[in-house]
Amino acid sequence: MAGQAYETHEHDVIVIGAGGAGLRAAIEAAAQGVSVGLVCKSLLGKAHTVMAEGGIAAALGNVWPEDNWQVHFRDTMRGGKMLNNWRMAQLHAQEAPERVLELERWGALFDRTKDGRILQRDFGGHRYARLAHVGDRTGLEMIRTLQYHGIHQGIDVYMECKVERLLKDGDRVTGAFGYWRNTGQFVLFKAKAVVLATGGIGKAWKITSNSWEYTGDGHAMALWAGADLIDMEFVQFHPTGMVWPPSVRGILVTEGVRGDGGTLKNNTGERFMFNYIPEFFKGETADNEAEADRWYADKKNNRRTPDLLPRDEVARAINSEVKAGRGSPHGGVFLDIATRRPGDYITKRLPSMYHQFKELADVDITKEPMEVGPTCHYVMGGVRVNADTTQATVKGLFAAGECAGGMHGSNRLGGNSLSDLLVFGRRAGQYAALYAKDFGGRLTVDNAQLESIAQETLAPLTRAHGENPYAIQAELQDVMQNLVGIIRNETDMKTALKKLEVLKDRASKARVDGGRTYNPGWHTALDLVSLLAVAECSTLAALERKESRGGHTRDDHPYTDDTWGTVNVAVRLRKGQLQISREPLPQMPAELKALFERK
Ligand code: FUM
Repeated sequence: MAGQAYETHEHDVIVIGAGGAGLRAAIEAAAQGVSVGLVCKSLLGKAHTVMAEGGIAAALGNVWPEDNWQVHFRDTMRGGKMLNNWRMAQLHAQEAPERVLELERWGALFDRTKDGRILQRDFGGHRYARLAHVGDRTGLEMIRTLQYHGIHQGIDVYMECKVERLLKDGDRVTGAFGYWRNTGQFVLFKAKAVVLATGGIGKAWKITSNSWEYTGDGHAMALWAGADLIDMEFVQFHPTGMVWPPSVRGILVTEGVRGDGGTLKNNTGERFMFNYIPEFFKGETADNEAEADRWYADKKNNRRTPDLLPRDEVARAINSEVKAGRGSPHGGVFLDIATRRPGDYITKRLPSMYHQFKELADVDITKEPMEVGPTCHYVMGGVRVNADTTQATVKGLFAAGECAGGMHGSNRLGGNSLSDLLVFGRRAGQYAALYAKDFGGRLTVDNAQLESIAQETLAPLTRAHGENPYAIQAELQDVMQNLVGIIRNETDMKTALKKLEVLKDRASKARVDGGRTYNPGWHTALDLVSLLAVAECSTLAALERKESRGGHTRDDHPYTDDTWGTVNVAVRLRKGQLQISREPLPQMPAELKALFERK
């Protein structure tokens, strides 16, 4: 029988990835009465979700009763420069409030308004204070809550288990194959439906807020299984990562610092963001310090500070200031909250930031400014999914969270990822369970597929000669950082593609010492395969899109071009070749279009 040689687990649904989206999907699938396996590469709870520190965006209307799903929808679409899948953005805005309240019912302890409701804070691109938060540890609280709720739902959890490939029977996915990171032994998961919730691809860049897990495994496995990826050119550089000391470069500094009063300054003390207000946001953004300060003081003025423009705008502005020689001593700019807010306010609202800077950089943010600069944080692109069901273009495969594309268009608003994880994690679990219940015929896997994956997986251990995978990974990160970074152009990206070809060849011959028992070198060699695949997809898509929009800026095509505003760039693998195509965006219905005509 197929798979007999390997440790085997069978479930109706397996969820790969146990951050916010994976946990929420597993909880929902279990609630539908099917058997669920939750597989995570790392320890349960160790997820990039915790890096969404400042809050969950949801139009609860607790601080501003004027807020509602329509305004949230509009902000999200405008933040994404209208490239978002409108239906995903609509479902997200409509369902986010209930998902937050549900999280509260499950035990999440949000900060409170004076009259005891969930407090909401300001973030970039959101018209109203909209982010439900727990100080600056919101993602952590969300993971904690989902984890505690989830472990009582009868879900089988497989920790420190790396999935290498999806398995297919004909045109449908029927499971996944991987290995235990501690023993190196193989494990087979047979499943009627598979939910990918593996997060992002941030480890392909050198300066990143992402930790070691984020090597694009889900994106790559979906691609290899025949699914479409969309919007891979759009990579979000969060404007504020730490820049000093070098060992912590890239660690996130929450947007909540600016939401709560922090302003960006260059080395002349100038609040430079006033020089970078794009036409698109001019009418609604304060264009002088006095007005921005009034907004910070009472938040009543609708013209908000430009420090809280969407992330793509702020990251580009910081990049320009540094390039113009107006940066801080270590290649960033200054972020100052001490001038505006008293120390006890800062330590209460931003406790993690206070400790992070004190312990890692010996900077007291209640007294001194921080040095910050852009850090790769998020990929907007991912597996193309059906907006309502989250099903990919391959049967039996579902995707949610960062590894799914479409929801955020060309640029995600801060706080919209936590709500995305909850809304689409739940939908993925629900529809994967329904699919599993309707699954017709026998659940079979093909032994030949398993054998070939097993051989490929063991190859780095069995080669007599070959390079160290760490060196290849470091070069890949340099290539992406330097040639496919915040500002791109055709020459650089073509050079990047050539270098990626060479790196792919070198990676295919990489060799590691030691055996299968907890061998990080081996794990790195295997992660490199997906990292290189997603880096190539991202570069090809970026080369294809000849305009600048959101998280994709080209100095050879510096303007946003309407003809590109109606298409996604899709990447798919056919007969071993990557194919790139421009495909029309779904058409937004008239009643939603009308929302953009209102003030
Ligand atoms: O800045 C932050 O706290 C990050 C939030 C997010 O990425 O949504």
